[in-house]
Amino acid sequence: MLKLSVNELREKYIQFFVSKGHALIPSSSLIPENDPSALFTTAGMHPLAPYLLGEKHPAGTRLTNVQKCLRTGDIDRVGDDSHCTFFEMLGNWSLGDYFKEESIKYSYEFLTRELKIPSEKIAVSCFEGDSDIPKDEESAKIWRKLGIKEENIYFLSKEHNWWGPVGQTGPCGPDTEIFIIDDNKEPCGPNCSPACDCGRFLEIWNNVFMEYNKQADGGYVPLSQKNVDTGMGLERTAAILNGYKSVYQTEAFAPVMRLMDQKTKKGAFIKEKRIVADHMRAAAFILGDENGVSPSNVDQGYVLRRLIRRAIRYCRTMDLDTSALIDISNLYVDFYGGYYKELIQNRQRIIEELSAETERFNKTIAQGLKEFEKLLKYIQNNRISGKAAFRLYDTFGFPIEMTTELAADHGITVDIEGFKAAFEEHQRKSQKGAEQKFKGGLADNTEQTARLHTATHLLLAALKRALNDDNIRQRGSNITAERLRFDFNFPRPLTKEEIEKVEKLVNEAIEAGVDIECNEMSLADARDMGAEGVFGDKYSDQVKVYKIGDYSLEICGGPHAKNTKELKNFKIVKEQSSSAGVRRIKAVIDTD
Ligand code: SER
Repeated sequence: MLKLSVNELREKYIQFFVSKGHALIPSSSLIPENDPSALFTTAGMHPLAPYLLGEKHPAGTRLTNVQKCLRTGDIDRVGDDSHCTFFEMLGNWSLGDYFKEESIKYSYEFLTRELKIPSEKIAVSCFEGDSDIPKDEESAKIWRKLGIKEENIYFLSKEHNWWGPVGQTGPCGPDTEIFIIDDNKEPCGPNCSPACDCGRFLEIWNNVFMEYNKQADGGYVPLSQKNVDTGMGLERTAAILNGYKSVYQTEAFAPVMRLMDQKTKKGAFIKEKRIVADHMRAAAFILGDENGVSPSNVDQGYVLRRLIRRAIRYCRTMDLDTSALIDISNLYVDFYGGYYKELIQNRQRIIEELSAETERFNKTIAQGLKEFEKLLKYIQNNRISGKAAFRLYDTFGFPIEMTTELAADHGITVDIEGFKAAFEEHQRKSQKGAEQKFKGGLADNTEQTARLHTATHLLLAALKRALNDDNIRQRGSNITAERLRFDFNFPRPLTKEEIEKVEKLVNEAIEAGVDIECNEMSLADARDMGAEGVFGDKYSDQVKVYKIGDYSLEICGGPHAKNTKELKNFKIVKEQSSSAGVRRIKAVIDTD
């Protein structure tokens, strides 16, 4: 076997498939756009779903790439030799072009000729068939013809040899998986197969033959075009080629593991170090993504928060100062930045967001852990109540998953339903409180503040356009009768030209004399329409959406001006830093 590094293997794979007529397409963002079915991109095929369903891909019918992927389903297994939350997936696709025969031949050729893996070390599995779909004899026949020994061809159930869809519906089909046999491990019994967990079969590649579109009613409809979708885990394969026991020995992780070894007891806390290494890599890629998000209490931001806070917790277990997390992130940016340029571009953002989140959590974690210890003394029925779990969340910033994990360490459970109920109760109350506060603040000068509020919506829209950054979000807003104050995420000060451009865009919207419309709808509908919402905010199920022509669409309590003309003229009076990665603008409007 060739001992290739992660970077060399990535390169070799791409080159091979390009030489077979595949177009190299870029990795998509880790954060899928317009896809409500998944928070993160989970496989190379994920962004290709429309093309697998028949839409024409501009690059042709043969594609290859390396895709940034993130999966949280196996987060409990992270720390073992091979499971990672973030990973790179090498892939090649046929969109109605070749099917099983060529796909399997290409894989075999790449493994045996390019990577020099002896044929007898390769085992494969094929779909055994069920009441819906026939046994995949065709794939097995191709493998046999290529020289894979009969005893190394396994037929397994749908649980093992079926792939997709990503969400509830979409392209899917039977697959053939490819394994390297680890000769150091004897078969664990007479039924030892790739389906068991004994470690003799190391999975490296999955060739999916997408023939079906799963419907919402659970039925399978044949796709009009038959596709191939393959995925190879990059670090996992590199580790196997090098004879490493775990992915953490590859050069993607090795410097990070070394750094932690230097700062803690060497050779100790292996699982903890791996978890920190894994979570920090995932966090760096989420923060540094072209659609990067910030830690928050919802969606991707919440996963990010969990990953960072979990890493912080393990740092404490190892007595490792959390400043090491910054050094670790820098090591990842250095290593991956050559291929993923966005990491270099966003280095400052990664570091600032990570520092801010670490600081936030460091402030409360020690107290929270103390509180947790206290709780242990008083709990009944070996169960932490929902209220107590909510207090840990609300006051000390413990993600519920973290409380559950800590509890499990002590052999106790958490009342999750009770937690949800406490959470919702709190939401209802704070919503009411916010409405009241808002009314109170508006009492003296309603019209002017309503106009400034409209100006705030226009400002956010203008910032996105002027700075050409769709990821800008509101981080705070405060309106008095005299001025608006608006905080948003952005890594650097705005230039004079940019400030002028923002003003110009807002003033154009004012001059256009657009009516402000307000519609009530469900939160889901509002999100579907693409309405802007305050990140980390909690809304009730029914929300108001304010629309200002084509300029802005935001979920908001209001009130607003009736027409943008009322604002007359908008001017930014100050642009300054608010906190790490957050800028603050103060602005005024003329109304005479
Ligand atoms: N989609 C398949 C997988 O994730 C092959 O890429 O395994």
